[in-house]
This record gives sequence, structure tokens and C-alpha cells, in this order.
Amino acid sequence: MRLTKVRLGEQVPPRRSIVTMPPAVLAIRSVPPAFKQYKARDMPAFKLLLLPGDGIGPEVMAEVEKLIAFMNKRGLGPFETERGLVGGAAYDAHGVAVTDATMALAQTADAVIFGAVGGPKWDKVPFEVRPEAGLLRLRKELRLFANLRPAICYAPLAESSSLKREVVEGLDIMIVRELTGGVYFGEPKTITDLGNGQKRAVDTQVYDTYEIERIARVGFELARKRRNKLTSMEKRNVMKTGVLWHEVVNDVHQRAFKDVRLEHQLADAGAMQLVRHPKQFDVIVTDNLFGDVLSDVAAMLTGSLGMLPSASLGEVSAKTGKRKALYEPVHGSAPDIAGKGEANPIAMLASFGMALRYSFAMSEPADLIEAAIAAALARGLRTSDIKSPGMTVVGTAAMGEAVLAEMDLLAG
Ligand code: IPM
Ligand code: MN
Repeated sequence: MRLTKVRLGEQVPPRRSIVTMPPAVLAIRSVPPAFKQYKARDMPAFKLLLLPGDGIGPEVMAEVEKLIAFMNKRGLGPFETERGLVGGAAYDAHGVAVTDATMALAQTADAVIFGAVGGPKWDKVPFEVRPEAGLLRLRKELRLFANLRPAICYAPLAESSSLKREVVEGLDIMIVRELTGGVYFGEPKTITDLGNGQKRAVDTQVYDTYEIERIARVGFELARKRRNKLTSMEKRNVMKTGVLWHEVVNDVHQRAFKDVRLEHQLADAGAMQLVRHPKQFDVIVTDNLFGDVLSDVAAMLTGSLGMLPSASLGEVSAKTGKRKALYEPVHGSAPDIAGKGEANPIAMLASFGMALRYSFAMSEPADLIEAAIAAALARGLRTSDIKSPGMTVVGTAAMGEAVLAEMDLLAG
């Protein structure tokens, strides 16, 4: 295997053409030794449903399609793909944010790969069919209750973070966000005209014991495989759901995970700690809304929202041993740069890496994707969201292709 290692953070002079680049450097993680042993399997193809969505979604999804073609060519698969519309794109074509037919495809796919939804074009469409409703329907109907949002600070990007290098360098935390409950889905959810020139808006934050229990288990199990620490965040000083959350997490800990170190933080204090000293955390478990907010904060620690992948997982079926899953970047549709070919495809590519890891038990190729991303960054390539002085700014396709070129080199 041709592979040159350099010291962490060492800078490699950027080159003009990515095609003629010499063997890459690895900033983090070594090449998975087992990679070469992978072969096309005697198995039915893995069925992927690609939902590019709106804005930069289709642009970053195009890079995943190249990655899938690469995997198939290398005998790492086979993956079969279908495509569907979601979000504003589905609304324009069908008047809904996702059709029943697309939902049926999602139900039978081995994994859904999702781009992004939304944009100012659909600001005025009715609430029920707004682009985001498509994503929420997928989460709810596929019962994807566990949202895993890792925040890893790649060494070459420590300078791109708004925080000091020493605060974020080497950061590796996992936010586990409850995804099918809480205020996102609680009823009633209404705006009522009070008739006196006033209106009243109601959202309902609701959690049952079983919902807290199963997400807590995901958090504890992940912590066990990592640095064995779980921090639970809620606001039990104000909210009843916080009181129950705290109680149930403690209970699960006592019953099944005494070996894992458990801490509790109020979500506001937790937000503060995330920017003060993020490396104190290993796994954070929290509800749907706090998880939404805290994961955006965590994303920025890593340099850019364009870097963060996510996995949304359902329960493992006792019958099939499989679980439903959707993989999407944490970033949105970025309408301001849509169509310009500038978007950072890394979060999307890394989301596909998470699919390999969590849906297909292919952790070596998943490691390879992460190593290739690190290598492309170590070479000095940057999309505009993560640019810094002296680096080479490239577009979506060039970054995607650079990652593939590194995979090719690393895999030997
Ligand atoms: C996210 C997004 C979504 C959410 C939107 C698009 C509905 O912000 O995945 O974090 O709020 O969950
Ligand atoms: Mn969000």
C-alpha cells in the first residue's frame, strides 16, 4: 500500500490539479488494513434511496453518487440506487413535501440518503406542505428515533473554528438527539385566533418513559464503545419533561449501565460548556429540540456546518435483524450558494460513510472515507466555507473528486 505519513497538522503544498497529485498524507486515522480484503459479496444488492432535496442538496448528492460508483467498481457493494423528490422539489412537482410513493420506497430501502430541504422559494407555502415537513414525515413514519451527530474536528481545520485551536483540536464528541418525539411532534400544535386581535400559538413538549428509555440506551451503548462517559441534558428546573427525562436516564443507568460514567447538565449550561470546554464530553444525549440547537453549536466547533454528517436510526427489527435508517448532513440547503458549485460535500460524503458503518457493517470502507477526507484537507484543499489563508479553494466537484482520488490511493 503506497502511503506516506506526515506529522499531525503538517501542511502539504496545494497543487493545481488533483488528478496528478502524489500519494496523500494522513492527518488522522490510518488506512484500514482489512480494506483490500473486501470483495463483492454473494448477496443481494443494498438498496439505497437517494433524496437530494433542495438547494445544495443535489450538488452534494452528486458527489455521493460518484462515491457509490467507486464502491461498486471496487467490488464494495453492490449498491443499487433509486431517486426520489423531497422538500420544495416534491412540492413543485406534486404539491406535497413527500409523496406516498416516495414514502413507500423509503420503507423498503436498506437506507435513505438525504440531501437537504427548504429555501426562500417556499416561504409562503402552507405549513403542512412546507419542505421541512417531508423530512419530518420520513423521520416519524420510519420511526427514526435516534439521531447520531458526531462532531469531529479534523486537525487541519482547527484554525477554521471560531474557537481557539487548543479548545477544539482533537475534538471527538457524539450528540445523540431524540428524533421522533418532543415539541417537534407533540399535540396540540396550533395557532388559534382569540378574536380580540390576538392569536395564541401552542406547541406541546411531550415524552413518554419508553421514548426516553430507548434513546438513553443508545447513548449508553455508544459511550461504552467510546470513552465511557454519557452526559444527559434537559431542563428539569423548568420543564416536567426534563424531570422525567432525568429520572428515566438515571433509572436506565442503574439498571443496565452502571459501568458508564453518567453526568447531567441543564441544557443551557451544557450549551455554555460546549463552547467553553467541549473536550469534557464524550456522548451527549438530549431531546429533539435541545439536540437540534446543541448539534448546530457542536458543528461550529469543528470549523463548519459543512463538515458534520448524521445518522437517524430506527429500532433493530427482531424479525429481520435490520433497522431503518436515514443519513443526512447536519447542514441545510444553503440557498445563498445553491447552484454555484461551491458547497462543501464533506458532510454528505461522511453521511454516506455513516451508512456504511451503521446500516451495512462496513466499518473499514467507512474509515477509509474519513481518512480520505482528512487527506484531502491535509493537502490544503478547502471549499469556501472552510477556507483559510494559504489554502487552495476548490468547488464541490473538485473536493468530492479529491476525496475519491485519496480513497483510490489509500486503498492501493
Ligand atoms: C435538522 C434540521 C431540521 C430539524 C429541519 C430542517 C426540520 O434543522 O435536521 O437539524 O429542525 O430537525
Ligand atoms: Mn437543525
